[in-house]
Amino acid sequence: MKKRIKSDDPVEAAVAHLRPRLPFQPRVGVILGSGLGVYADRHPAKLVVDYAEIPGFPPCTVEGHRGRLVFSAPSGTPALLMQGRIHRYEGRSLEEVTRPIRILGALGLDTLVLSCAAGALADLPAGQLLLIHDHLNLMGDNPLIGLSREPDGVDGFVEMAKAYDASLLDLAESRAASVGVPTRRGVLACVTGPTYETPAEAAMLRGLGADAVSMSTVPEVIMARALGLRVLAFALITNRAGVPIDQTDSHRAVVTKAERMTEKVAHFLDGLLSGLAVPAG
Ligand code: HPA
Repeated sequence: MKKRIKSDDPVEAAVAHLRPRLPFQPRVGVILGSGLGVYADRHPAKLVVDYAEIPGFPPCTVEGHRGRLVFSAPSGTPALLMQGRIHRYEGRSLEEVTRPIRILGALGLDTLVLSCAAGALADLPAGQLLLIHDHLNLMGDNPLIGLSREPDGVDGFVEMAKAYDASLLDLAESRAASVGVPTRRGVLACVTGPTYETPAEAAMLRGLGADAVSMSTVPEVIMARALGLRVLAFALITNRAGVPIDQTDSHRAVVTKAERMTEKVAHFLDGLLSGLAVPAG
């Protein structure tokens, strides 16, 4: 059942700006993580809106994230593609990090697909697509802290045992196989960053049961579940966590790595979205 958070001025301001402009009713939201934003350029857009022009939409300041909402219908599925996300390490609160998810939910989407770059903890090669089936929220914070308790509104006591939709995971696996993109399933640990892990931190995260680590995605998944959206998340492995990224600009190196794999991710997303063309029953 879909839920909404009441008395929510920035979200309402953003929705009031976007709703009259909607070229169609989007059903699926896709968050394109570091270096993956170019996927949105591969399909004709019906409408592109810069985050900066949407009242209440937090700014996007990090390289590799263009900060635009793109309305298009890849593989026939009416979608809202987010070219770039807001991160905790940009100095934003988790309320701001997850505000776009509340805006998407208020616009009537029912499914959210999230992507991110991630460092491998398990034995995973760079370029591996990891379908997330569980997570460790290690941000030391939670986007649902302090939500107002209003009738019919969202409260913080959200069931997370089945956060990642089983049928979407099956669909993603079979679509990826049919377009020749190998996938694995795994657990994503989420940290604030912006530092990368020390060898000891990477060993600790592995010991805790994580297969990969990123600086995003998990807060957005939590908010999406609080709103009753169906969630699929995947990580693109760009490096090995805890091992020096042999470049002076390690973030640029991660973004470049992800950009080189866009072709693979695009095949996967096209296949996935064609499987989502029919609304969930
Ligand atoms: N650690 C955390 N986040 C990341 C990494 C990493 O090694 N690579 C890409 N995002």
